[in-house]
Amino acid sequence: MNTEKKRLLTGLQSSGTLHIGNYFGALKPFLDIYEQYESHLMVADYHSLTSLRDPKQLHDNIINVVKDYLAIGVDPTKAIIFRQSDNQDHMELSWILNCMVTVPFLMQAHSYKDKVAKGLEPNAGLFTYPMLQAADITLYDIDVVPVGEDQRQHLEYTREAVGKFNRAYGEILKAPKEMILDSVGVVPGIDGQKMSKSYGNGIPLFGSQKEIEKIVMSIVTDSSGERPENVYAIHRLLKSAEELEPIYEQHKGRYGDLKKILAADLESFIAPMREKREKITNEEVQEVLRVGAEKAKTISGVTLTKARKAIGITL
Ligand code: ADP
Ligand code: TRP
Repeated sequence: MNTEKKRLLTGLQSSGTLHIGNYFGALKPFLDIYEQYESHLMVADYHSLTSLRDPKQLHDNIINVVKDYLAIGVDPTKAIIFRQSDNQDHMELSWILNCMVTVPFLMQAHSYKDKVAKGLEPNAGLFTYPMLQAADITLYDIDVVPVGEDQRQHLEYTREAVGKFNRAYGEILKAPKEMILDSVGVVPGIDGQKMSKSYGNGIPLFGSQKEIEKIVMSIVTDSSGERPENVYAIHRLLKSAEELEPIYEQHKGRYGDLKKILAADLESFIAPMREKREKITNEEVQEVLRVGAEKAKTISGVTLTKARKAIGITL
């Protein structure tokens, strides 16, 4: 019997403050299952260089994302928490994978097209972004990647690159699968659009009570229906339809009251994590990343050595 655990990885860019869409779409699905897998949780700091040019902010974001990982309850002795830039194997394998795929193929990536449409500079890093992500995943022989719906295509791109590599050089890289939960694949923001750091429509995961209250009160409501759908959709992340039914019935048409109840429910959910987060020191973060980097390199080195040998680089 094969008792080996399957391998899990996800990563978030250190491009800003995490919002509850990141939590429910990617982090909670990871948290719910990570102890059953060989788990890896990465800070994609080189990915965020495609959109962020402020060194102080990038530096602070990296520390903050790791604090967020620890505060939500990821145990660093049960998952390898590491930073992409601490392991140069990512750069090397991403180059190799870039050489497997074509420019027209990369040009079709939704995330590239969306970001350029939003006015981001079409730098070459943004363009080859999916192959760095493919390297992040394949270096660790990953089976499952919990992500939000917007990452589905990146996983397809990863499999495409893996297929091309393996067809040329033999079965070296593993093709991963995405894990996207139906109920939280797209968490809506306060305007009903997909919640995103770049749309300014997010509820920060670690915002202060005041800040969150203010944002919740500004949720866009449609005056035509009985139920404020944008309020309800966010509420459903915290409570079941059965639990919400009497609350929404009792406060029918009273949107302000429903928003206050949502703000209070968000506070009960966030407060314990916020308290935990306040106690995490920068030194602790550095130590977690130091240990994580060592473990990550040990694993990725094996894959990269095989890949180098396969392509004829090793003498
Ligand atoms: P953002 O769009 O806010 O910049 P990222 O691209 O850094 O977020 O996403 C990090 C992770 O969070 C990814 O797995 C992504 O799919 C997930 N995610 C982001 N926004 C949402 C959302 N609104 N609903 C569900 N998952 C999301
Ligand atoms: N592209 C992902 C995002 O924007 C972040 C990411 C980078 C990632 N490398 C990854 C996610 C590897 C999962 C696996 O959200």
